[in-house]
Amino acid sequence: MKKVGVAILGLGVVGGGTARILIDRRQQIKEEYGVDVEITAVLDLKKERVLDLGLDLKILASSMDEIALNPNVDIVVECMGGLEPAKSFLLKALEAGKSIVTSNKEMFCKSWPELEAAAAKTGAGLYYEATTGGGMPIIRTMTQAMQANNILEIKAIINGTTNYILTRMSQEGASYQDILKDAQALGYAEANPVADVEGYDSSYKLSILSSLAFNKRLPVDLIYREGITKLTAEDIAIGKELGYVVKLLAIAKQKEGKIEARVHPVFLSKDHPLANVNDAFNAVFVVGDAVGDIMLYGRGAGALPTGSAIVSDVVFCARQEVHARYSEMNNCMTADDIIEDFESDYYLRLNARDVSGVIADIAGVFKKHNVSISQMRQDRNNEIIPIIFVTHKTREKAMKAAVEEIAALKNVVSVENLIRVEK
Ligand code: HSE
Repeated sequence: MKKVGVAILGLGVVGGGTARILIDRRQQIKEEYGVDVEITAVLDLKKERVLDLGLDLKILASSMDEIALNPNVDIVVECMGGLEPAKSFLLKALEAGKSIVTSNKEMFCKSWPELEAAAAKTGAGLYYEATTGGGMPIIRTMTQAMQANNILEIKAIINGTTNYILTRMSQEGASYQDILKDAQALGYAEANPVADVEGYDSSYKLSILSSLAFNKRLPVDLIYREGITKLTAEDIAIGKELGYVVKLLAIAKQKEGKIEARVHPVFLSKDHPLANVNDAFNAVFVVGDAVGDIMLYGRGAGALPTGSAIVSDVVFCARQEVHARYSEMNNCMTADDIIEDFESDYYLRLNARDVSGVIADIAGVFKKHNVSISQMRQDRNNEIIPIIFVTHKTREKAMKAAVEEIAALKNVVSVENLIRVEK
């Protein structure tokens, strides 16, 4: 039977979960997949993590060089996170001819061509199922199961932290700040939540998914990004009355040879399949021209779900005679490939003085920018009134220009929020 040695870099939550699965399922993997996968090296500063897993301290390496030189290591699994030294360690592994498996989305999406080139030189494999969607096998779906399709569209909830915060804000009518504090206390959100709540994490994952979907690398800085920090309980409640739920969506679409790619909060029609994806769950909705709509749903983080994706890569890698190459990753999209002025429906909430002509003035600005209104609501009968508009499909630039002019109108007191609507 083929014997495959695995080194795990970092035995924290994800590395520990991966090791646990590899140890517990070793016999089953042998029986079901015909490969004997053994952990032959680990790299971690904490000896007790090695001992807690029941592993022999003899396999604890003192450096990445030692692992690169170890003939009993075939696959290096990186669970360290961060850009460096993760990237240098993986390059070292690839240069030594060892295949790599990583869950590190930021490092991977920023270093993909470099890693791919290093892997191609030695014939090593490059696997990254766990970078996107945790336990959901979305990468293998995109690389191994969509050959018959042109991918037309991806809509995804790929950040569990923000989905958890938005679900609780919606259910409890609570503020972003209150739920964030709670989510941090419960360990759902990091002490520094910026990567999650400002949409960076989702945009790294969307960059990976879009590159696979559209056969050309989409650099993360070409993705429009907006986080969830400006969402209020008031908007979420009004959205609910209008038939929407709020979600942080990662959206990529192919239109007439160009790509639209964006991460931002949306009001999503409550009938959409993604609308019921709640708490820390993730889901990816893909539209292919042959298959139509498909959707994957699952846990996007955690020791065992992420470990599940990593072990799947390890076993898949162990069974390959020749590793697939993604030469298109060196073919990079530029600003010319991107539709910056995308189309959407919009929700706008503003406060205005309840005086004659205020609606006419606002409508005049909408008319000037060719924005068509589909719904309008004036909430209470006070001196200052909240007014809500929902538009028909409008170009982003026209909508933003209209909002800027509306904010400057004499009887408009404040523009409170602008949220894109997905039906
Ligand atoms: N921070 C991510 C999330 C998990 O909240 O979904 C790892 O990708």
